[in-house]
Amino acid sequence: MSVKIAVLPGDGIGIEIVDEALKVLDVLNKHFGLDAHWEKAGIGGAGYDESGDPYPEATQKLVHACDAVLLGAVGGPKWESLAKPLRPEAGLLRIREDLGLFANYRPSKVQRQLLDASTLKPEVIEGVDILVVRELVSGIYFGKPRGIEERDGERYGFNTMGYRESEIRRIARKAFEAARLRSNRVCSVEKANVLDVSELWRSVVIELHKEEFSDVELSHMYVDNAAMQLIRNPRQFDVIVTGNLFGDILSDEASMLTGSIGMLPSASIGEKFAMYEPIHGSAPDIAGQDKANPLATILSVAMMLRFSLDRVDLADLLERAVEQTLDAGVRTVDLAFNGEASVSCSGMGDAVCKQLLAISEA
Ligand code: IPM
Ligand code: MG
Repeated sequence: MSVKIAVLPGDGIGIEIVDEALKVLDVLNKHFGLDAHWEKAGIGGAGYDESGDPYPEATQKLVHACDAVLLGAVGGPKWESLAKPLRPEAGLLRIREDLGLFANYRPSKVQRQLLDASTLKPEVIEGVDILVVRELVSGIYFGKPRGIEERDGERYGFNTMGYRESEIRRIARKAFEAARLRSNRVCSVEKANVLDVSELWRSVVIELHKEEFSDVELSHMYVDNAAMQLIRNPRQFDVIVTGNLFGDILSDEASMLTGSIGMLPSASIGEKFAMYEPIHGSAPDIAGQDKANPLATILSVAMMLRFSLDRVDLADLLERAVEQTLDAGVRTVDLAFNGEASVSCSGMGDAVCKQLLAISEA
């Protein structure tokens, strides 16, 4: 079956890491019976530069007509002084909202070959396998009212954190369903000791659990404690379900347990659409130098094969090829430690392709 992918490289290293992911897709097309086609379009700063809009109309049209979206990263100093709605980040928030991508899956799995790349002790992080399920299209990121205005002779800035019962239910459901395919444990993270929105969050999660998911082990944690527990004893977590802002923060924290944020893919899924992207940003400081680690984007392709393209076989294969590449000692600079030699971004992409070809010939 032929599938069409919207490819949105975005800004900074987004461009080079997406190129490596496309190399991998090429190999899957040529040697493994995938029939994927893609078309590129602008998003973020690249979107703004070509059309004055960080989520251009042409891009909107394209993503609505595709089976899945692959995104690189957005942002950079060049666009920082623009008005907020024109900044690259606004484009990212709009595509998430437009496609209704409410469930953001961010796995943090420690690869045994990279145990020493973490700033934490190997015995603390060995075996860590966490999935953060972050609500992505509501909460304080989108709540109204919001703004900066004059109050009592000074400026006042404000946002609103709100969740509808139905929004809490649908994300909690995704977390429980994901847990059933893993270690069957969900930890719901909020701040119910202070925030009303969190009090509702906790009671809705408890209700849904009782009604439909009582086989899953459920715990609750305040976000400050969760931030601490992730460092103290990360192995206690399986699935963490949380709102948009807390999920933004905790998923960055969880990613660093694994040693490199450059390793971690993500999937953002709604009722009709799905988008796949590395969880790291556009890293303007190393952009264009062929130094970035493309593995998070390549592993995002694996998530796409699994969740959108109905090719679990190829997802498994690609994940295995990445693992074997690491086993063979291939490292980009972010993964190299103790004076190990490193390869470039394209060198890493080539190494994964080579590994895939070796598997196809075996
Ligand atoms: C992320 C990023 C985005 C977010 C930014 C770039 C808007 O940090 O995907 O985690 O805050 O959601
Ligand atoms: Mg973030």
